[in-house]
Amino acid sequence: MTKISLRPTTIIDEEVKWNKSEIIISKTDLHGTILYMNDTFEEVSEYNKIELIGEPHNIIRHPDMPKVAFKVLWDSLKKGENFHAIVKNLTRTGRYYWVITDFTIDKDDNGKMTGYTGRRKAVPESVIKKIEPLYKTLLDIEKIKGEKASELYFDAYLKEEGKTYDEFVVDLFEQESLKEKKSNQSQTQNETEEQPSKIKKSLNWFFFGDFL
Ligand SMILES: Cc1cc2nc3c(=O)[nH]c(=O)nc-3n(C[C@H](O)[C@H](O)[C@H](O)COP(=O)(O)O)c2cc1C
Repeated sequence: MTKISLRPTTIIDEEVKWNKSEIIISKTDLHGTILYMNDTFEEVSEYNKIELIGEPHNIIRHPDMPKVAFKVLWDSLKKGENFHAIVKNLTRTGRYYWVITDFTIDKDDNGKMTGYTGRRKAVPESVIKKIEPLYKTLLDIEKIKGEKASELYFDAYLKEEGKTYDEFVVDLFEQESLKEKKSNQSQTQNETEEQPSKIKKSLNWFFFGDFL
């Protein structure tokens, strides 16, 4: 039986319409093979579960994403470290959606790693505006000077920022989300100062708490 390609042949520069208050979840084995997805994943990706179960997760990889972003992801996951990444994904019709993904390690009762879970939420437009030019530069370097040059540039960029990629993503996301939250609040009430102590250095408050 010949296998039909599940990847779109044409890329459309248009965001897919989706309910941005939803969480998009998938689970993989240790090799990134999709084992599970929730209904929101199905809706946003424009694939159904039967098509994607058992496929490699790079099936929804967008060609605008630089390789180095996934290299740092896998380096962390293999070490057993949870991770955050901002990712542009490709839908079945060739459209895109931007998300922040919280990657966690799945373990069995003996603490042995069995796979990974990705929980994704929409990101504010201002986050995309900041990350998109960086990804474009990394991709251009990758295409013209190769993957290693792109990796070296990314390392140097993060050194200059004084952060790991994970810290860079969490900080950028928190800053922009709080700005957005404050500007929403100031429309309805007098602005109150956010207490820095309330901000955790992880995004559990966002993925598992009541953010809005
Ligand atoms: C739990 C989990 C979720 C993932 N989610 C995505 C995703 O939403 N989009 C994506 O492009 N890659 C995702 N990946 C990474 C892919 O496995 C893959 O590394 C990436 O698409 C780059 O493709 P490549 O490794 O073939 O270069 C995920 C990996 C894991 C373990």
